[in-house]
Amino acid sequence: MDTWETLEQECGSCHACPLGNGRQRLVFGDGCRTAEIMFIGEGPGQREDEEGIPFVGPAGKLLDDMMELIGLDRSKVYIANVVKCRPPRNRDPMNVEQEMCLPWLRRQTALLRPKMIVCLGRIAAQAVMKPDFRITKEHGQWIRKAGVWITAIYHPSALLRDVYKRPETFLDLKAIQAKAREICSRTDLSTP
Ligand code: URA
Repeated sequence: MDTWETLEQECGSCHACPLGNGRQRLVFGDGCRTAEIMFIGEGPGQREDEEGIPFVGPAGKLLDDMMELIGLDRSKVYIANVVKCRPPRNRDPMNVEQEMCLPWLRRQTALLRPKMIVCLGRIAAQAVMKPDFRITKEHGQWIRKAGVWITAIYHPSALLRDVYKRPETFLDLKAIQAKAREICSRTDLSTP
């Protein structure tokens, strides 16, 4: 049976794929290990690789703002990525890299037992929801898998590049807040 400590330690010495050789820091996850809501991103960027914490660069600042809009912050959610080591030059993680890394995410999810998962962007949605997930068409839709409600929204990096995607994302965030109010009994989602 995993514990968070043994899982993080084991993951920390992983060299199952070549990304492990290029990392400065492994980016395991951040937030509350008893959270009801889990956010899943793609993989670490430069700042995350330097600090060992997910979403601390520019996209992370936007993610913090997005969470704040619906009464959330890092103390109330758990944040992880599909791959734990930075892909060179921030390229998309390759399928084989994702496959090698996904068992860590599955074990994190098994320990957390979230009520809800929010995938950030196409890569996470395809890894977690379905391989042919179309983020432009299917963001904001919900599925239920093994008792967990799962949705996907645009990745904050996409929202930095294209502000015209922001209004749709605002609606998706409000729907996430409404769903969380319905199913998450321990999470305070009140906004000022
Ligand atoms: N983008 C991601 O998908 N994850 C991070 O941790 C940072 C940027």
